[in-house]
Amino acid sequence: MRVLTIFGTRPEAIKLAPVVRAFAAADGIIHATCVTGQHRQMLDSVLEVFELTPEYDLDIMKPGQDLTHVTTAVLEGVGRVIDDFKPDWVVVQGDTTTAFAGALAAFYRKVKVAHVEAGLRTGNIHSPWPEEMNRRMVGQLAAVHFPPTQIAADNLRREGVREDDLLVTGNTVIDALQWVAGRLDGARSFADKFPFLDPDRRLILVTGHRRENFDGGLERVCQALAQIGRRGDVQIVYPVHLNPNVQRTAQAVLADCDSVHLIEPQDYLPFVYLMRQAYLIVTDSGGVQEEAPGLGKPVLVTRDTTERPEAIAAGTARLIGTSSEALITSASELLDDANAYAAMAQAKNPFGDGQAAGRIVKRLLQGQAA
Ligand code: UD1
Ligand code: UDP
Repeated sequence: MRVLTIFGTRPEAIKLAPVVRAFAAADGIIHATCVTGQHRQMLDSVLEVFELTPEYDLDIMKPGQDLTHVTTAVLEGVGRVIDDFKPDWVVVQGDTTTAFAGALAAFYRKVKVAHVEAGLRTGNIHSPWPEEMNRRMVGQLAAVHFPPTQIAADNLRREGVREDDLLVTGNTVIDALQWVAGRLDGARSFADKFPFLDPDRRLILVTGHRRENFDGGLERVCQALAQIGRRGDVQIVYPVHLNPNVQRTAQAVLADCDSVHLIEPQDYLPFVYLMRQAYLIVTDSGGVQEEAPGLGKPVLVTRDTTERPEAIAAGTARLIGTSSEALITSASELLDDANAYAAMAQAKNPFGDGQAAGRIVKRLLQGQAA
């Protein structure tokens, strides 16, 4: 069986790395990886960490690219790769434009699509935008669906996906996190990478990059961070996504704030180190919402919707929107009220057990979903 795995951005690379490694180790599979290069530096950093060398690299990224460029370049480029490699299956992950256009390219060549992290829904096609629609469209194109949780599987069942065509696997991000955690425990500490960290101040780790927050949401979040930073007992570390819209806003509002450290996007190992050091995480990232609960870190989700209700139900994440007041109020509560903090800082893992990649490979080998 010939399998082509396609990804293009940082989160897809992290979440598919364990799957690629499992394909490479499996008997009976001839596997190739195609990276679209929707991201460049942030993708290459993950390839290096997980020691992956793609067979195909479309290298499509342009500074400030729009969705039409990404869609058309991936559609054309993946089509050519499929013609060359002739896979029986194409594997895509999640909700990016690489995932959608890669799945469409496969469909146009009558190649079966397997969708990893299928079935997550907010119910609002504008939030996250364009990811909710991307994920739904991949779901329409896929022959087999790998929802990470029962909630995601139920979404697919409600949309008419047959039981034979889905398998609940857990999220492969937990596989990736466990792989990295093993290396963090054994390897050198990353403390020397962050000499500016003050052991006497609590660390608030921040990420933010969603397109629907460019229209004021990210700016309000940054304004709230500037105010929270004025407390004497915290330090804020924000690895700023390379998207120019994010860079512009973060730099404009936060560059001159003493307790706020704007740093480059981090390689996965040091980022996991920072999550472990954090007292509190503020994020609109999908992946971070999935990783933080297992680390026992409270997460304030700066979005109006989430397709990951499991973390909210587990009590480790709170959906707060993007008003400055909401972030200041929630962060202050968690900083000042030990009981409120303890209630959220419970290590729970609703997203998986670290065995997802093996389940995906086994299921494709069984071929039952064809
Ligand atoms: C993309 C995904 C989003 C995912 C996010 C993860 C879509 C539509 N969006 O959004 O779902 O959550 O990745 O981070 O698929 N850039 C660089 N170097 C990099 C990466 C990005 O310079 O390594 C800059 C470039 O100027 C690029 C811009 O960021 O044009 C936007 O990248 P793009 O992939 O289009 O959008 P993201 O906001 O990263
Ligand atoms: N991440 C990272 N370095 C950083 C910020 C995030 O390695 O500086 C990791 C994070 O642990 C998670 C993934 O990147 O696994 C999330 O990617 P991102 O937030 O870009 O995308 P999303 O998950 O929102 O699609």
